[in-house]
Amino acid sequence: MSDFAYRDGQLHAEEVPIPRIAEDVGTPFYCYASAGLKRRYRAFADAFAGLPATICYALKANSNLAVVRTLATLGAGADVVSEGELRRALAVGVPAAKIVFSGVGKTEGELALALETGILQVNVESESELEALSNLARARGVKARVALRVNPDVEAGTHEKITTGRKGSKFGIEVERVPGLYARAATLSGIEPVGLAVHIGSQITDLAPFRAAFARIAGLVAELRAAGHAVRRLDLGGGLGIAYGRETPPSPAEYASLVEAVIGPLEAELVLEPGRALVGDAGVLVTRVLHVKDGSTRRYVIVDAAMNDLLRPALYDAYHAIRLVQEAPAEAATAPVDVVGPVCESGDSFAVGRRLPPVGSGDLLVIDSAGAYGAVMASSYNSRPPAPEVLVKGTEYAVVRPRPDIDDLLGQDLMPDWLAAPGETRSRGAA
Ligand code: LLP
Repeated sequence: MSDFAYRDGQLHAEEVPIPRIAEDVGTPFYCYASAGLKRRYRAFADAFAGLPATICYALKANSNLAVVRTLATLGAGADVVSEGELRRALAVGVPAAKIVFSGVGKTEGELALALETGILQVNVESESELEALSNLARARGVKARVALRVNPDVEAGTHEKITTGRKGSKFGIEVERVPGLYARAATLSGIEPVGLAVHIGSQITDLAPFRAAFARIAGLVAELRAAGHAVRRLDLGGGLGIAYGRETPPSPAEYASLVEAVIGPLEAELVLEPGRALVGDAGVLVTRVLHVKDGSTRRYVIVDAAMNDLLRPALYDAYHAIRLVQEAPAEAATAPVDVVGPVCESGDSFAVGRRLPPVGSGDLLVIDSAGAYGAVMASSYNSRPPAPEVLVKGTEYAVVRPRPDIDDLLGQDLMPDWLAAPGETRSRGAA
């Protein structure tokens, strides 16, 4: 079921016609559906209802405060990887007891904030980080709850750039080193080792890599327990994929059954860190056609969204479905076009040779499944203000992040005295 469906030939976000939002907000813009967030969170939570699991939404997928609060209101915790994400989670009311802090390189300031806010656990990825955290905790007279992130050396079968659980990747601690480091953690007075964490990659559409990784974890737990450690909590990471095109990812229920089969017998508390699976399909990027240009070999549909708004196609050659907001008649002929943005790079392309019904200047298009790793990866490259974000709920919608004003973008730069024109304020680059 899609939250972005045609009604009377016009694409709607829940109950709201997309052209109405476009009229109001301008294009391009991200549009998220509350109902979609809710349904996907519920599906995930229901799948794990029989297990002692905390679902810590991975904020990196979409950290808009309104999105995070929508999920938090349903009971989600948070997986954060920076001070900024931790503060976002706390700002919308995620209880500290449901926040885990992941990431391969946390600063002292970030570790200190994790301790001061009393979050559930820090997922530690190196001996150096473990020692630093222990010292910070001792100085504060507390113990840091720590899970060691294991690199299980499994092939996730996903894009190279989002594979994280293989030997030779910067993430986690190699399996052979985990028992030694766990024992070391147990001796540090600032550390309370609570368990293990693992995350092998993202957009995984097959259960096999998860099975292999979880089996490695189960083996390690047995080994650690035999050595006398109480391993009580396992953080299984995120990574469950969605269908951008013809993929057939496992459902949350199938994924949960696997967890139950492989990890359930260990009787540990569980943490899950889904990102994309909760928000990816709950958002689209709406864009307007600026021009259609015919080359000798191809037709270019030039739109007003670009790689600075949605980087995934340029960075990972990612496929995103593209639809017309005004539904084309069923009998409309389609022809292959390249859908491209205005940025001065050949990589600024959303689709190559994509079959679309005829479109012309002014038509609205949506780029589907853009709720995850869309707005959060946006930049102002080419001095383009990144697309604003809109959240829909039933018949209502609200701008949840406005389009930055170009003057504000310019105002972020400072002019040194030796370049300032007479009377020009230092804080305003070009007035
Ligand atoms: N936990 C950890 C430790 C992670 O590194 C990630 C994602 C997640 C959870 C959430 O994974 P998910 O459930 O969303 O797959 N920008 C890329 C994806 C990068 C994922 C990074 N880590 C993309 O657009 O495909």
